[in-house]
Amino acid sequence: MTDSKRKILITNALPYANGPIHLGHMLEHIQSDIFARFQRAMGNEVHYVCADDCHGTPVMIKAGQLGITPEELIAKARESHLHDLNGFLVSYDNYYLTHSEENRRLCERLYLAAQEKGLIKTRKISQFYDPKRGMFLPDRFIKGKCPRCGAPDQYGDNCEVCSATYSPTDLKDPYSVVSGATPELRESEHYFFDLPACGDFLHGFVHQAGVLPPEMANKLEEWFREGLQQWDISRDDPYFGFKIPGTDNKYFYVWLDAPVGYLASFEDLARREGIDFEEYLREGTPTQMYHFIGKDILYFHSLFWPAILHAGNMRLPTGIFVHGYVTVNGTKMSKSRGTFIKAATFLRHLHPETLRYYFASKLTPSVEDVDLSLQDFMAKINSDVVGKLVNLASRTAGFINKGFSGVTASAPRNIELMRGARELVPQVMAAYEARNYQEVVRSCMALADQANRYIAQEEPWKAFKDESQRERVQGVCTDALSVFRTLVACLSPILPELSARAAEFLGVGLSLAEAADPLLEHRIGEFRPLFSRIEQKDIDALIEESKEDVRQAAPAAAAQDEGEPLAPEISIDDFLKVDLRVATILSAEPVEESRKLIRLKVDLGPLGQREVLAGIRAAYKDPAALVGRQVVVVANLKPRKMKFGTSEGMVTAAGPGPERIFLLSPDQGAANGERVH
Ligand code: 2FM
Ligand code: ZN
Repeated sequence: MTDSKRKILITNALPYANGPIHLGHMLEHIQSDIFARFQRAMGNEVHYVCADDCHGTPVMIKAGQLGITPEELIAKARESHLHDLNGFLVSYDNYYLTHSEENRRLCERLYLAAQEKGLIKTRKISQFYDPKRGMFLPDRFIKGKCPRCGAPDQYGDNCEVCSATYSPTDLKDPYSVVSGATPELRESEHYFFDLPACGDFLHGFVHQAGVLPPEMANKLEEWFREGLQQWDISRDDPYFGFKIPGTDNKYFYVWLDAPVGYLASFEDLARREGIDFEEYLREGTPTQMYHFIGKDILYFHSLFWPAILHAGNMRLPTGIFVHGYVTVNGTKMSKSRGTFIKAATFLRHLHPETLRYYFASKLTPSVEDVDLSLQDFMAKINSDVVGKLVNLASRTAGFINKGFSGVTASAPRNIELMRGARELVPQVMAAYEARNYQEVVRSCMALADQANRYIAQEEPWKAFKDESQRERVQGVCTDALSVFRTLVACLSPILPELSARAAEFLGVGLSLAEAADPLLEHRIGEFRPLFSRIEQKDIDALIEESKEDVRQAAPAAAAQDEGEPLAPEISIDDFLKVDLRVATILSAEPVEESRKLIRLKVDLGPLGQREVLAGIRAAYKDPAALVGRQVVVVANLKPRKMKFGTSEGMVTAAGPGPERIFLLSPDQGAANGERVH
């Protein structure tokens, strides 16, 4: 414990109000909660806040569909989010809403300061407008035919069939997802934050030691190289959000007010608890502000957010802690496989600390994705928490109670084990501070293994029967319970309930400062089971109910996840119009100026050589490896003139792209130019 108490504001990304909390969210809430609990255990002044991210078009539309006001929708969402987060033992000091007066005032304050500095610009832009609904449409609310492959019902920004990216104005036969109407292009004035003007400041900020994981600072270099763009911060009426000061019908874009919501949630808490809010805001404050976020929202937090704070003469984030995505059984969470698991569903089948422990055992400061492999999850909980940790107490407490009136020995027996416990505590502290929870778990389990081996060797259950061995039994069991005490204190940020129950039974506190003190001449309580094993049937029931959740909530979404809908029936003659030929790739080079394309030269035997531009770069990072491979080419496709040359055909592939593309190849023996029937 230090006497210089740190003052720390910790935030977690704000969940959108229009959807439920799922296990993807839980990784971060668990990660930030463990950090907050650890910092509190160190005696620091911690303010751990979150809120619902309430504004924007999706909330407005969803409320309309449900026939309720956006305010009603967000109130309900907050209640359900809080229920889930409490269920997972997430210990927020405040869980607020971005739709609050504090947030409105702070947004206005920051905006006016930016305006004062000349950082707000206006210009007219053209955008799709839904004439039936009377509103401008965000890209995700426009669908139409892909301009490249003609696939129907593609979103306004990219095609899920051929993975082309484009702008909504390129779509063929566009329609509004909200009303079905054909959108019209309309001009309107937008407000922009002059991000390029903050370029030097931001560059300095992101490279400050400790602010970002190094791999993320490098990622940002790419964005700096590409050049920062003016950021469009306004949306037109109707919009659920805060009106921009000095305008009648312009609102702050949701991503402007969302991070400000961190501060607004803290302000609400500060007022209630008499904390000096402004002390945390001023530039150069010694207070600390840590944001936990996923890698998908890095741009907002490392560029827009510090730029806005800086423009408003406010303090900057001390650290932006970025994590990867959650996968289940090695792949993206999937609705049809039942691995799109909602927090509430998980809680109906399994104890929250099982997930807390499992995620902790995988979390490091790196940005790597975290896989929840359900078999590994079950095995790890049963082996570590039940088999190693709880076992230390369940195998030994009974003897102390039966043979020694519940009182431990007066001296430790195994000095090496006690030294291990003493060394563990500072190691664990350093690992928590570095957010290396994997290391916390690893080192705790190493000590648990050592203690369990010792108990197995000493066999107190045998020795207990022999009067002359009683003293040894008391000593061995005392050592085991001392180590157990050390471990539950060290793991309490991860397993707060289990640790609290264990501490109660041991009759001790969970302070880290005392965690390694052996339990000598100490009276313990009666041991009661502390944790249950996970059974396969629990996992099966969880998956089954997750599938059911999807069937009930959105049959259409489930269908989408089941695969692309079948195209209309065709005749054999229709099929034969497509002339598919076997070809060998002679050369494959990335197209310099494009992030998506690879230039292929292919040999079609008697049909000669062709050049094909294929949008497969994200899936084939090493194009040279394609050389020599046989593929199937659409040989009678009309040549297409593109910015980077003419593509004389198309290589066939499966998968939704852009990273999941799988080129088709014939079995060995096919000759170039042979037709595919
Ligand atoms: O990506 C999201 O889920 C956003 N709702 C996160 C907002 S974080 C912060 F900026 F408010
Ligand atoms: Zn397409």
